[in-house]
Amino acid sequence: MQKVLNREIKELITAYPEVGRVLEEYGIGCAPCSVGSCLLKDVVGIHNLDPQKEATLMYRIEKAIYPDRKISEPVVDMTRKAEPKKITYSPPVKKLVDEHVLIKRLLALIPSIVEFTESSLKVDKNLILGCVDFIRTYADKYHHMKEEDILFKYIDEKAEIIQVMYKDHDIGRGYVRQAVEGAEKNNKTQVKENLLAYRDLLTQHIKKEDEILYPWIDRQLSTTQVGEMFRKCNDADALVGDELPRKYEKFIVELEEKFLQEVTK
Ligand SMILES: [Fe+2]
Ligand SMILES: [Fe+2]
Repeated sequence: MQKVLNREIKELITAYPEVGRVLEEYGIGCAPCSVGSCLLKDVVGIHNLDPQKEATLMYRIEKAIYPDRKISEPVVDMTRKAEPKKITYSPPVKKLVDEHVLIKRLLALIPSIVEFTESSLKVDKNLILGCVDFIRTYADKYHHMKEEDILFKYIDEKAEIIQVMYKDHDIGRGYVRQAVEGAEKNNKTQVKENLLAYRDLLTQHIKKEDEILYPWIDRQLSTTQVGEMFRKCNDADALVGDELPRKYEKFIVELEEKFLQEVTK
C-alpha cells in the first residue's frame, strides 16, 4: 500500500476508475481535476478526514486496486457518530474567509444581473463594468494578491493544490476580460457566458479554499508564522486603506437593493 500512497492520483484513477468513484463518494473531487499530479497520500492528508472515515476510505481504495488481496476491513464503531469537523481558522486566514463573504454576495447576484442583461435592449455597460471593477479591485487586487503574495508563500508553492489555485485566478481573469469585451461590443451572449462561467469557477474556488486549502495551510503554520502573516496582511490592508473595502461593500449593498427588490416585485 505504501507504493500506492506515493503514486499520482490521476494515474491511479486512470488505471483503476473505481478509485475515482470512491474518492468522489467521500467528497474528494480528484477525477475532474485538470492537473492530477498530487500523490494519493497528500490527497487523503489534505482533506483531514475523521480517522474512522479515513481508515474505511483507505480500505476501499486498496480493495479497488487489489480486489483479490485479503485485506482486513477496519472495525467501524457504529455507536460513534462521525462529527462533521468544525473548521477554525487563524486570525489572518479568518480575515481572508471573511473577504470571501463579500465576493460570494456578488456571485449570488450574477444570475439576476444576467437575466436583467438579457431582458434589456442593450447591455448596461455601467452595470457590467461596475461588477468588473469590484472583481478586479476587491476580489483580485485586494484579496487574491494577499493569497498569492503572502499566504501561498508559507507553503510549498509547487504543491499541486496551489498550482490549481493560481490557475483558477488566471482563468477568472480571462472570463472577466471576455465579459468586458462583451460589454464594449454590446454582445449579450458574451457577457452572460463569461459572468456565469466566472460565478461557477469562483464558487468552487472559494469552497476549496474555505474547506480544504486554508485549513491545510493553517495546520502547517507555527504560532510565529501566524503572527508574521497577520502583520503582513495588516500591512497590505493598511496600504490600500479602509476606504476600499467600505466602498465595495457599499457597491454590493446597492446592487442587492436593486436586484433583490426586482426579484421580490
Ligand atoms: Fe484564491
Ligand atoms: Fe480566496
